[in-house]
Amino acid sequence: MSEQMQRIVLASRPEGQASEQNFRLEDAPLPQPGDGEVLVKVHYMSLDPYMRGRMNAGKSYAPPVEIGETMTAAGVGEVVASGSDDLQPGDFVLGMFGWASHGLAPVSEVRKLDPQKAPITTALGVLGMPGFTAWHGLHAYGRPQKGETLVVAAATGPVGSMVGQLAKQAGLRVVGVAGGAEKCKLAVDTFGFDACLDHRAYADAPALAEALAAECPDGIDIYYENVGGKVLEAVLPNMNNFGRIPVCGMIAWYNSAETGLTAPAIWRDILTKFLSVNGFIIFNHYDRYPEFLTEVAPLVAAGEIKYLEDVAEGLANAPKAFLSMMQGGNTGKQIVKLV
Ligand SMILES: NC(=O)c1ccc[n+]([C@@H]2O[C@H](COP(=O)([O-])OP(=O)(O)OC[C@H]3O[C@@H](n4cnc5c(N)ncnc54)[C@H](OP(=O)(O)O)[C@@H]3O)[C@@H](O)[C@H]2O)c1
Repeated sequence: MSEQMQRIVLASRPEGQASEQNFRLEDAPLPQPGDGEVLVKVHYMSLDPYMRGRMNAGKSYAPPVEIGETMTAAGVGEVVASGSDDLQPGDFVLGMFGWASHGLAPVSEVRKLDPQKAPITTALGVLGMPGFTAWHGLHAYGRPQKGETLVVAAATGPVGSMVGQLAKQAGLRVVGVAGGAEKCKLAVDTFGFDACLDHRAYADAPALAEALAAECPDGIDIYYENVGGKVLEAVLPNMNNFGRIPVCGMIAWYNSAETGLTAPAIWRDILTKFLSVNGFIIFNHYDRYPEFLTEVAPLVAAGEIKYLEDVAEGLANAPKAFLSMMQGGNTGKQIVKLV
C-alpha cells in the first residue's frame, strides 16, 4: 500500500452556526512532488476566522471550499521531498497546505523560513498574515496620530493585540474590547492597553456605549473594526468627527444566516461625523509585507511586541479548535500542532 496522509475536508455547508458535522477527517495517498514542487510535512497549521466564510457557497472576495475539498489553511512545516534545487529536504517553509498532515506546492508559492531567526509558528501569527493585517490596516487606513484614542475588539487575538501594541507605541490611548475578565486582564497587563472592556458583561449596545464613553473621555478617533455586531453599535455614537474606521473583519456576523445590520443608523453616524471607513483584504497588499517584516520582526525579537499562541494538538482536533475560536474560546493566535 502507498504511503498515506491525513486531511480534513468540508463534509457539508453550515446553516448559521457551524458544527463538527460539517467536517470529515480522511486518509489520502501521499502525493509526490513534480518538477518545481515540494512535498511538505506540516508541523503547525493556522486556524483563522476567514475560514468560516469559505464554508459558505456564494460569491465573496475568494471562492468557497467545495464539498469534499480540503479546508483551506496556511501551515508551516518541513520539506520532505523536493522537485527543485531551490529547496532541500529539511528546509522549513510557510505555504497554503490546507487542513492536512502534508501539502504539495509549487516552490514559487512557499516562503522559506529561518527557524534561528524566529519560532516557525510566528509565521502564522505575529509575523504572518494576522500581524501584517494589523500593521497595514492601522497605518494605511487608521492613520494614527499621537494623543488620539483607538478602540479595537478581539483585543487579545493576533490582529487586535498587534493593533493595540502598535498604537500604544505611536502614543495613542488604546482601549480594547474582549470576551471575559481574563482576556481583558491580558490586554492590559501583557499587551499594555490602557483599558479593556468585557463585551459579555454588557447586556446591549447602549450599556457598552456608556462604558466606552467613560474609558474614552476624548471620544474615539480610530475604531479598528474586527467584530461588527454589538461592539460596532456601541462605538459609533462615541466616534469623533473625521474619525477613521479600517474595516478588517466582522466576526460577530460570520455564523449568522442573516447579518442583522442596522444599516440606516450606522450610515447616519458615518455621514454626519465625516468618518473615513476603509474595507480591505490583506491579500491585495502583500507588496508591503517586506516593509512590515523589516519594521516589526526586530520588535518581536526584542520583546517589544508581545504575542500569545493557543496550540491545539492533532489534526483531528482542528474542527473543535476552529469552532471554539469562532466563539472566543482561543486566547491568542489559534494554531494546531500536527507533529
Ligand atoms: N481583512 C483582512 O484581510 C483580515 C485578515 C485577518 C483577519 N481579519 C479579521 O480580523 C478579525 C480578527 O482576526 P484574528 O485572526 O485576530 O482572530 P482572533 O482574535 O484570534 O479570533 C477571533 C476572536 O473574535 C472574537 N469574537 C468572536 N465572536 C465575537 C462577537 N460576537 N463579538 C465580539 N467579539 C467576538 C473572540 O474574541 P473575544 O473572546 O475577545 O471576544 C475570538 O477569540 C476577524 O474578524 C478576521 O476575520 C481580516
